[in-house]
Amino acid sequence: MITRRLHGWIIACSPLALSSLALAACASEPTPITPHGDLDRRLAGTSGTVPYATGLAYTYPLPGLSTREREDFLVGNNFFSDNWVTAPSSTTARDGLGPTFNARACGACHTDDGRGRPPLDEGEDFLSALVRVSVPGASTDGGPLGVPSYGDQIQPFAILGVPGEARPRVQWEEVPGSYPDGATYTLMRPLLTLADPSFGPLPDDVMTSIRVAPAMIGLGFLEAIPIETLDALADPDDRDGDGISGRVHRHLEDGAMVVGRFGWKATASSVRAQTAGAFVGDMGITTSVHPNDDCPPEQLACSEAFAQSEPEAGDEVLDVVVYYSRTLAVPALRDPTDLEVRTGSALFDAVGCAECHVRSIETGESDVPAIAHVTIQPFTDLLLHDMGEELADHRPDHDASGREWRTPPLWGVGLVPVVNRHDRLLHDGRARGVEEAILWHGGEASRARDAFRALSAEDRARLVRFLGAL
Ligand code: HEC
Ligand code: HEC
Repeated sequence: MITRRLHGWIIACSPLALSSLALAACASEPTPITPHGDLDRRLAGTSGTVPYATGLAYTYPLPGLSTREREDFLVGNNFFSDNWVTAPSSTTARDGLGPTFNARACGACHTDDGRGRPPLDEGEDFLSALVRVSVPGASTDGGPLGVPSYGDQIQPFAILGVPGEARPRVQWEEVPGSYPDGATYTLMRPLLTLADPSFGPLPDDVMTSIRVAPAMIGLGFLEAIPIETLDALADPDDRDGDGISGRVHRHLEDGAMVVGRFGWKATASSVRAQTAGAFVGDMGITTSVHPNDDCPPEQLACSEAFAQSEPEAGDEVLDVVVYYSRTLAVPALRDPTDLEVRTGSALFDAVGCAECHVRSIETGESDVPAIAHVTIQPFTDLLLHDMGEELADHRPDHDASGREWRTPPLWGVGLVPVVNRHDRLLHDGRARGVEEAILWHGGEASRARDAFRALSAEDRARLVRFLGAL
């Protein structure tokens, strides 16, 4: 029997046990088989959480998946993690990369199912983050209007014989500040340039938005939150007068009005929509959802290189990657009885963080039994909030303005440094750790930010300690 190691998991590639798709996913590197007891031990945990705090903390499947479901998870993991290659190749299950692309695998950006970061200096490429671009106006579906010759995302890389679109470069500007108690700090703001544009200069009115890849954990739960719950959390006209007016991001997606949940501006309604978008936009892999590669007419070599009529990723591949993306577990809170953590948790509520980073939500129906009707602690309301000039990208995206962002879930945030060996947070990864992330909050979150700033240094440290335990 052939086995294969995936993120420390062992998948047994037995012709009897697996579908033909699974066999295609099974590469030939033989590795020893671990006893099943180990698998079961790793799966212990409750309410979709797993008690692991290692570098693999984001990579576990939801507890409670059936054997059949775990198999889909493992096959999906393979298609998520392994590189796609240029077509034609002998690896037909995974060819079709490009012509232009940002990365060769989902896992290149969502490293170990975790999050990406922006380049740390001008010499570094965008490897786990990307740049969205547009010009003022809206496309027919109400989305951003792509830049002529470039489209709505810069793909810096391309297959042999095709030019990449441009090389995004970041420089960091220091922004000094101080707490009311006199303690000083320095924040960092990214300054973006798009060097070496291949199809003429970008227009003067180009709008750009740097986005880092978010972590993949718990997405199936977020997808299963009933729309009524989101509507009940929303307060678009701030009727309760607390200065916070979150709104549901309703917009057109493939011609239908949907509720956005995923992406930094809640532009995708489902894991499937986001995944199909990522396949074509980030890797140049077509699916039945997006049958054409992103080659604007001016990019001749790109159009010529793309001659595929069948989707490069068939529906069964798309389905299994979507399934995988929906069934990653969430690491459990660590040190819940620690006094500092508990005090920090109370301070989180007291200064108003939980107004947006909502602690507890009940999921609704789901085709995955482990996801349906459970209480989760996502620390998000999935709503759009005006975060002020501080965080504005000035690039509207569907119905989200240039100042609006979706509250990101905070579950697992304390493990970013362990999993991804960096501490960069916020949509463009400008914050080095949770304290800087809080200090960047503006707009509707100004009140909470100022209440945090007004805390004693000890209490600030307690709140930060609590976030570190998530
Ligand atoms: C080039 C880097 C990159 C690659 C490759 C990539 N992603 Fe992403 N991913 C991102 C970024 C950036 C976002 C946030 C997008 C936004 O805000 O519009 C994201 C968001 C997501 C989300 C939504 C998560 C959330 O919390 O809102 C899912 C799901 C996702 N990606 C799945 C995938 C899958 C599946 C693949 C492979 C088919 C993939 N991604 C490939 C960068 C990447
Ligand atoms: C008005 C709603 C709101 C309030 C109140 C609020 N946040 Fe946020 N928070 C957001 C949004 C929206 C973002 C994403 C902003 C961005 O990426 O530009 C965010 C981002 C974060 C992040 C970074 C998460 C990531 O994945 O990068 C952390 C950490 C965070 N908030 C903690 C807090 C804490 C602690 C408080 C209380 C002091 C707080 N927030 C109050 C809405 C809010």
